[in-house]
Amino acid sequence: MAIRNLRYEGDEILKKKSREVPEEEILSEKIKTLIDDMIETMHKYNGVGLAAVQVGILKRVIVIDLYDDKGPIVLINPIIIKTKGEQEVEEGCLSFPNQFAKVVRPAEVVAEYTDRNGKRIRVKAKELLAQAIAHEVDHLNGELFIDKIIPGTLEYVEPEE
Ligand code: NI
Repeated sequence: MAIRNLRYEGDEILKKKSREVPEEEILSEKIKTLIDDMIETMHKYNGVGLAAVQVGILKRVIVIDLYDDKGPIVLINPIIIKTKGEQEVEEGCLSFPNQFAKVVRPAEVVAEYTDRNGKRIRVKAKELLAQAIAHEVDHLNGELFIDKIIPGTLEYVEPEE
């Protein structure tokens, strides 16, 4: 496993749309390594989620870790089937270090994705998981949280030593 270089604010790749992982590639060594590296990279920077585009790979792969007893979740080719309600939440992004702002996210998200074993899963997510799935699926579509923040809520926070 390896830490991958993050892509930051201003990098044009962050605005590009990621491509689906073809069925026959899902269980490949290349995707397995990408997933392992993404999880390691997310953990190194204490992120809740990371999309492959943030390490420069335009594939529809997401990792999320809420640091609960479930461990990291891997979502390949995710689609949001439906959303319900709204939540106003504080949000950051590993591609925008030390910046936080309020955004409106769905309160609930029903999503479908393929897990790292190739199994298609349907999940009904609430609260932080719903927020994380919405944020990361946006990344796959080239959309950034900074473009949907509630005006006047952006804060720069000094990194902790
Ligand atoms: Ni992000």
